[in-house]
Amino acid sequence: MATKGRWKTALTYGDKQSVVIRGYSLGELVGKVSFAEAFLLLARGELPPPGHAKTLEAMLVSVLDHGIVPSSIVTRYLASSGTPIQAAVAGGILAFGDIYGGACQQLAERLVHHRPLIDSGKQSLEEAAQEIVRHFSLRKERVPGYGHALHPEGDPRVPKLYSIADANGVTGSYSKLAFAVQDELGRAKKRPLPMNQDGALAALGLDMGLNWQIVRALAFVPRSAGLAVHAVEEMTREDGWRHVPDDEVDYDGPPLRPLGRG
Ligand SMILES: CC(C)(COP(=O)(O)OP(=O)(O)OC[C@H]1O[C@@H](n2cnc3c(N)ncnc32)[C@H](O)[C@@H]1OP(=O)(O)O)[C@@H](O)C(=O)NCCC(=O)NCCS
Repeated sequence: MATKGRWKTALTYGDKQSVVIRGYSLGELVGKVSFAEAFLLLARGELPPPGHAKTLEAMLVSVLDHGIVPSSIVTRYLASSGTPIQAAVAGGILAFGDIYGGACQQLAERLVHHRPLIDSGKQSLEEAAQEIVRHFSLRKERVPGYGHALHPEGDPRVPKLYSIADANGVTGSYSKLAFAVQDELGRAKKRPLPMNQDGALAALGLDMGLNWQIVRALAFVPRSAGLAVHAVEEMTREDGWRHVPDDEVDYDGPPLRPLGRG
C-alpha cells in the first residue's frame, strides 16, 4: 500500500546535475543504449542481455502502425475536429481494449497464473493450456491473443518475431505455454486459430521478464508514435472534419411523429 507523505521510487531521480535511471546516469545512457534497452532497464532494474533488446526493438517496430484500424480511426476523427495532437493520440490509445489491441494483458495474466503450477509439477503443459481455453470459454469470451480479423490464416508478424526471438535466445517457457494454448484452441474450435500479435507480445514480454501488467504498453507505446503521424497527416492533408456520411447510417428508431403539445 502506498504510504502517505514521502514518495518512494526505485526507478529514477533527477537533481540539478543529472537524471539517474536505475543507478545509471541518463547522460551516459544516451547514445550508448537503444530505446528498447533503456525501457528494459527501467522496467526490470538491470540492463538486458543484447538479444532481449534486439527482440524488443523488433516487437516495437511490429506494432508501430497497422493501417486504418480502430485506434487510427479515433485519432483521425479527433485530429480532424481540431483537438491538440496529444488528445488525438490519447483518444486512439484509449481504443486499445480487451478485444482490440489490448488482448495481450489478459493472456499474460493467465500465463503467469499457470506457469508456477507447471514448474511445480501440479499441471502438465497440456492441462494448463486446456484450463486457459476453458477459463475464457466458461465466460463466453474468446481466448485473447489468438485469431485475427484481417489475417485469418495467421498474423504474419508472429512468425517473423519468433524467428528473431528464437535466434536471440528469448523464446522461453511462457511462449511454450502460449503455443500449447494455440494447439488446444485449434482442437476445441476444430480449426486453426493462430496466435496473433497480441499473443506474441504477451508471451515474449513475459519471457523477457516483464510484469504481466505492463505488456499492454508494448502495444500502445510504439503505436502512439504511429498515431501521432496519423494525426499530423489528417491535420495537414485532409480537409475539414470527418463524419460518417448520412447514406452510411441506417436509422431504425420510430419514424418522425408529432409531439402533440400545443
Ligand atoms: C480478433 C478477432 C476479433 C477476430 O474475430 P473474427 O473476425 O470474428 O474471427 P473469425 O471470423 O476468424 O472467427 C470467428 C469464429 O472463430 C471463433 N474465434 C475467433 N477467435 C477466437 C478466439 N480467440 N477464441 C475463441 N474463439 C475464437 C469465433 O468464436 C467464431 O466461432 P463461431 O463461428 O463458432 O462463433 C477474434 O479472433 C478475437 O476476438 N480474438 C481474441 C481477441 C484478440 O486476440 N484480439 C487482438 C486482435 S489483434
